[in-house]
Amino acid sequence: MRLRATSSPPATVQADVLAVPIYRDEVELTGDLAQLDEASGGAISTALAWGEYNPLEHASALIDGGDLPAGRLLLLNAGARGRGAWRARRLAMVATRQLNGRGASTLALWLRDAEDDDAWSAAAAGAVAGTYRATAVYGRVRDTAAMKRSVGEVLCIGAGSQAALDRGAEIGEGTAFGRDLANRSANDLFPERMADVARELEADGCTVEVLEPDQMTELGMGLLLGVGQGAAHGPRLIAIKLPGWEKAADGDRLAIVGKGVCFDSGGISIKPAEGMGDMKHDKSGAAAVIAAARTVARLAPDTPLMAVAPMVENMPGGNAQRPGDVVKALNGMTVEVTNTDAEGRLILADAMTWAEREGATHIIDVATLTGAQAIAFGDQISAYFARPRDWGDRVGEAAERAGEWFWEMPLAVEYRASYDSPHADIVNSGTREGSLIKSAVFLSEFVTVPWVHLDIAGTAYLGAEKPYGPKGATGSAVGALVELALGFAPEPTAS
Ligand code: BES
Ligand code: MN
Ligand code: ZN
Repeated sequence: MRLRATSSPPATVQADVLAVPIYRDEVELTGDLAQLDEASGGAISTALAWGEYNPLEHASALIDGGDLPAGRLLLLNAGARGRGAWRARRLAMVATRQLNGRGASTLALWLRDAEDDDAWSAAAAGAVAGTYRATAVYGRVRDTAAMKRSVGEVLCIGAGSQAALDRGAEIGEGTAFGRDLANRSANDLFPERMADVARELEADGCTVEVLEPDQMTELGMGLLLGVGQGAAHGPRLIAIKLPGWEKAADGDRLAIVGKGVCFDSGGISIKPAEGMGDMKHDKSGAAAVIAAARTVARLAPDTPLMAVAPMVENMPGGNAQRPGDVVKALNGMTVEVTNTDAEGRLILADAMTWAEREGATHIIDVATLTGAQAIAFGDQISAYFARPRDWGDRVGEAAERAGEWFWEMPLAVEYRASYDSPHADIVNSGTREGSLIKSAVFLSEFVTVPWVHLDIAGTAYLGAEKPYGPKGATGSAVGALVELALGFAPEPTAS
């Protein structure tokens, strides 16, 4: 997709379609909207009067452009005001998505009051995301040429810079790569295959290391091995280092650690059948960190960044881990596995210890960790925990720049006692009360450097199609991770 900046007013822009955001409180057209309506010969007011577009009902409506040089107008429900980059990304995403499979090849995007570079970069990423097709990975028969049509050029109207658009487009492409990985099914993308994907990043100048089960045994990664032992496909630990990692031996180094459960059946503590197929998305954290590493390697290869992805399948079987088993972590702690379905925290624990030993000074782990996060926050907001909290602030700001919505939760180590075990140093799962917070408290036992835990259980995939995306992977956290990492670049590209 080509993205171009233009400072021409919307009423004069030539394009197949002009996207026009309308806020929920704009029952009457005033100001800039009234001007555009007048220039169109009343196209917008007529559509509103006819109920072709109604902000209480519709996400968008495609109407005739009237007297405007743009052929058609895409009225977009902009909802409430505020949340600049987030809203810009969302609107761009809905705009290009509504035009998939239609005849439009050029779209003029009028973001009205979102004109700073963060909003523009987020809008560019969103415009690319809107053209994402979940069927692209496996679809054959239904994928006709007409269905594949999508917007090829987006003109952004306003004061943002071309550089911001270019950066956002790169992030958008990286996010699509992450979505493809997360959408791939478990019979296709098992741990070893993910390692093959990671090795392709050598073409971007990265160093890729893959630990196999024998090496994990030698090192003492009992938690990662324990989760993986029930599956026919063995576990792998993938580490991708950017060129900047080695060069920063004495400085700050960021490790992004992603949960890579290619399929989470729950193991012996097996999940109910309903919705279990969605658990192929339980590798979304790993997909996000690999996609972010690739994107940063292309934007700023001197960034001291390492992506770590512990990959497993959590399966029942004759050799599977049992509830009650006690395993020993790489950091020396013993863990009583009270629930084999609380597997994410186990594999992340060993991966974070390993990342720290490799020289990470800052860590963020990204995981579809708890159903509780999805229930509490829904599909729009990811939850994070931070120690110390000012490191969390940097993560929150990176998300904001990327147009993602993160919210901080309390890392209440006061709950630690509820994870005491009569047989080991800690259990991996307790009662439901406070389980979202307690999952972070468990992880906190396995990190000593500044650390953030990001739970994307609700945001990683859509359970059903929405105006802003197809069912399946969303690429959650890719943009925020890229922005966060760019803040570690020798000459920060981030604002
Ligand atoms: N992968 C799941 C969490 C999940 C659930 C992600 C739904 C996305 C949607 C995780 O491994 C899990 O099973 N968590 C358990 C933890 C419990 C056993 C302590 C959960 O949330 O129920
Ligand atoms: Mn689980
Ligand atoms: Zn899981």
